[in-house]
Amino acid sequence: MKEISKNNIDSIDIKGFQDDLLCWFQAEQRDLPWRKDQDPYKVWVSEIMLQQTRVDTVIPYFHRFIEQFPTIKDLSEAKEEKVLKAWEGLGYYSRARNLQAAVREVHEKYGGKVPDTPKEISSLKGVGPYTAGAILSIAYGIPEPAVDGNVMRVLSRILSIWDDIAKPSTRKVFEAAVRKLISHENPSHFNQALMELGALICTPTSPSCLLCPVREHCTAFHEGTQLELPIKTKTKKQRNVQLAAAVLADNQGRILIHKRPEKGLLANLWEFPMVEINLAYVSEKEQMKDAFHTEYGAKIEIDEMTGQIEHVFSHLTWNINVYKGKIISVVKEEADLKLVTLEEIKEFPFPVSHQKMFKQFLDSKV
Ligand code: ADE
Repeated sequence: MKEISKNNIDSIDIKGFQDDLLCWFQAEQRDLPWRKDQDPYKVWVSEIMLQQTRVDTVIPYFHRFIEQFPTIKDLSEAKEEKVLKAWEGLGYYSRARNLQAAVREVHEKYGGKVPDTPKEISSLKGVGPYTAGAILSIAYGIPEPAVDGNVMRVLSRILSIWDDIAKPSTRKVFEAAVRKLISHENPSHFNQALMELGALICTPTSPSCLLCPVREHCTAFHEGTQLELPIKTKTKKQRNVQLAAAVLADNQGRILIHKRPEKGLLANLWEFPMVEINLAYVSEKEQMKDAFHTEYGAKIEIDEMTGQIEHVFSHLTWNINVYKGKIISVVKEEADLKLVTLEEIKEFPFPVSHQKMFKQFLDSKV
């Protein structure tokens, strides 16, 4: 593997690179809602939402979130369930829970002002090196690197860095590079310009090198290696899980919902009763009846299947057979087990797969 050669970074015309990049950003940057002002809270919310989620998806969520929780104080005082409801559909829900926990800390410990030192900001829940650098540079104009996958792709090409970006330790190589390259006059635009270049020009499989404002500074462009970079080893294969779920109604038409545990996948979101199926064992319907009786103390009848749902997470895929059914015994409601009307159910946050189930259920009724 090629090492980061001292040459690449030392042979680059840093001032020329900064000027070309910043000039392009000023002319071409997208009009995005979190670029309207530098409120550290809004920058923070946007950066958390933008982790693992596309800009187009984030925009309406960002608007609604800021409308509902306009300040640090509003978010710290909100009920977690309301925050999860506002995040519903965005995925990676621990982001929302960590954000609220960290915002509460800022409210209590820092009088509502987002800290502006790397040490303090990095100590907040859910604020890793990327987010810390993004907030410090974009909101406070502090020349700190903000290196995510996109920035690594861009810089691996410009500086011809052949380290494996799938390895966590590689981020430091890129942070060191950004520390040398970053504009001290405008760290905010410099970091955002690298992100923007990765989104608009220096894309993963078809970079538009002929439109690139910094191609003259780009080693990969000169050497024709832009499609070989970055080096990224394959991630592990997805695990498949077979599940069966049911939308179960009692004799008053109320639906049984369950709150997921506070740790793990989709923590604290609500769901319809669901069980992992082992097809070597008895029939699917029997397994559901057994499992729901054991877990919820509910005797049930399973009626027809309303559909199938596949949901892909980063590390596993759920294949869910969805049924409807009836509750034929008394159910003891608990903090994490409720019978709710079709109106009440709208207030509870559900994962996307379970929202789809509910839609199938409603469609099957008409
Ligand atoms: N991706 C991550 N942060 C971003 C930002 N501030 N603007 C656009 N895309 C981003």
